Amino acid sequence: MNMLKVLICDGMDESGLALFRAAPELQVDMPEGLNAAEIKAILPEYDAMVVRSRTKVTAEMIENAARLKVVGRAGTGVDNIDTAAASARGILVMNTPGANATAAAEHTLAMMLSLARHIPQATHSMRQGLWEKKKFMGTELAHMTLGIIGLGKIGSIVADRALAMKMDVLVYDPHIVPEMAAVLGGEYVTLDELLARSDFITVHTPLTPDTKHLINRNTLARTKPGVRILNCARGGLIDEEALYDSIVSGHVAGAALDVFEREPPAGSPLLDLPNVIFTPHLGASSLQAQENVSRAIASQILDYLQTGLIRNAINFPSISMKEYERIRPYLLVAERLGHLQGQLCTPVLKLEIIYSGSDLQEIPTQPLTQTVIKGLLDPIMAEKVNLINAPLLLKQRQIELTTSTTSQSKGYTGEITVKVKGRDEEYSASGAVFQGQEVRLVRLNDYRLEAELEGINLIIQNRDKPGTIGVIGTTLGNYKVNIADMHLSRIRERDRAIAIIRVDHEAPAEALDELRRHPSIICVKQVKL
Ligand code: NAD
Ligand code: MLT
Repeated sequence: MNMLKVLICDGMDESGLALFRAAPELQVDMPEGLNAAEIKAILPEYDAMVVRSRTKVTAEMIENAARLKVVGRAGTGVDNIDTAAASARGILVMNTPGANATAAAEHTLAMMLSLARHIPQATHSMRQGLWEKKKFMGTELAHMTLGIIGLGKIGSIVADRALAMKMDVLVYDPHIVPEMAAVLGGEYVTLDELLARSDFITVHTPLTPDTKHLINRNTLARTKPGVRILNCARGGLIDEEALYDSIVSGHVAGAALDVFEREPPAGSPLLDLPNVIFTPHLGASSLQAQENVSRAIASQILDYLQTGLIRNAINFPSISMKEYERIRPYLLVAERLGHLQGQLCTPVLKLEIIYSGSDLQEIPTQPLTQTVIKGLLDPIMAEKVNLINAPLLLKQRQIELTTSTTSQSKGYTGEITVKVKGRDEEYSASGAVFQGQEVRLVRLNDYRLEAELEGINLIIQNRDKPGTIGVIGTTLGNYKVNIADMHLSRIRERDRAIAIIRVDHEAPAEALDELRRHPSIICVKQVKL
């Protein structure tokens, strides 16, 4: 049995480890405190790696990781993973969305209450033997306005809990429909309105080039005097220098920060401000959340390594188990058709994929498309082609892609047609699944067939003349090439016929040339499926 190896870089709750350990074909290693260079050095041995936020998965770290198939982020944010570099190398990146959302939302609420009632400062003061009742006068949250930027999984829970505390909730999120805020009981507003009306502002967006320094000098200037700012999402969403200046100027009354532009934020002047409270990136640090993310990432990685099922991927369309079961038989059709076409037509300049029949309606066909591309490019590329890097490689080779779906079928409940166009040749091949598992080529150009899509095949087009099949059989026999199976089809009115001949061993070039020289034979191709 080929062992698969998983490297766990930042520790992992026992619940997920137990799932990994229960898989006999898996070896799990969890070395403690490795630095980036040490991880890079051992990574080529591993098929999967699991990280939280400590390990930065850079292009350099994975450049020699030839076996690595998947990077699993036990958590939400993937800004510590160079996803583009992973995609280019065909490595799947997945996270566990929502698995720590309650923990992060509750932490935000805890921070807001602590900020409003100076709880950390009062605790510190009491430890010093003081009893400073006047100094720590607080503010109630009820009837205060909370502005939530980003109404995703965490923002929504924050909204729900804040509304329960009788706060007025404003929401800004350009990627949702306003009704989503209304359903929760919040008010959907523009960013300007949110800034101008909120007593507390909390950010819950991912860190992207778009959201970097979302809270900056300019936006802070548009907030209400006395506003308090919270960040339990990602360092970098707030320009910390601008926040510092706004607090020192007295415009911002306080801040609660769980995440920082640099973690830990050693030397940050914010640490010296008495009205700013901190936690060391604890948003997801609840026993329940750690158990959830650990179990989720382990089962997702196991699914991927053991069955190919992809869930919660950042660089591949995720599909549900039900959808996966529906498309599973067609994955092989897609790959084999791609393989066939990549060998029949060189170079391919245009690729068109048509999904027809009831089986292929209303399901995500993107994984099938990526499988066709993988099949097409795999035999011709030196580098590893897989479902993740296939679209990128197609783009790099400037192959034009179009896809379409039609409910009309030509007799099969599901049929995939892959058309390729080269400089001066074009081929159309359609495949279907027979009896739920047999993958057949049902059409090649205008020829109707039912040939198994497997093994080594000679595809021979000839004039529809008596004796041609005999010539083919004799020629192959002379070169000791045994025929395993043969499918014939013809278009009588055009005097054309085709033979798909599966052979036990590759036919030598001389045999193919001899066949090509025969006056009735128009074209001979050998393809390996
Ligand atoms: P999510 O994807 O469910 O929600 C993000 C929301 O932000 C989406 O609704 C999206 O539409 C919105 N958004 C994107 N760009 C925006 C913009 N420019 N302006 C306003 N809204 C925008 O993510 P989530 O699971 O709710 O996580 C939110 C954040 O919390 C992420 O940054 C995540 O990494 C972080 N997080 C932190 C901790 C922690 O330990 N502190 C724990 C979990 C998650
Ligand atoms: C996350 O994005 O899930 C959080 O930052 C928590 C973590 O660090 O894992």
